[in-house]
Amino acid sequence: LAKVEVELGTIPEGKNVIIKWRGKPVFIRHRTPDEIEEARQVNVASLRDPETDEARTKKPEWLVMLGVCTHLGCVPIGESGDYGGWFCPCHGSHYDISGRARKGPAPTNLEIPEYSFDEDGEKLII
Ligand code: FES
Repeated sequence: LAKVEVELGTIPEGKNVIIKWRGKPVFIRHRTPDEIEEARQVNVASLRDPETDEARTKKPEWLVMLGVCTHLGCVPIGESGDYGGWFCPCHGSHYDISGRARKGPAPTNLEIPEYSFDEDGEKLII
């Protein structure tokens, strides 16, 4: 299957980009230091799908996830919801700045696809 390459230099800090990958949306967020801090301070034991932020990212400033709500597959909206991350308008699921399910019917966190960075760290390869 064809790989998709994304030039990371085109995504400013604090911004989201959505790309198409195998027919699905992929969310890429260039997180700010405050957002990383917030994601890492969450008590993982309190989560319905307990995952550390460290386990969900290869580089903390880049969050890469499938943009498919884990409830019934709608596309969540960025920079919204009660947890500073994403909100799914279909039935009201809230995801945090690590894409973890925090409120509403979504049973699990937004899925992380396989991805890597090129040698210079300038491109994301999905
Ligand atoms: Fe997202 Fe139901 S599909 S909350």
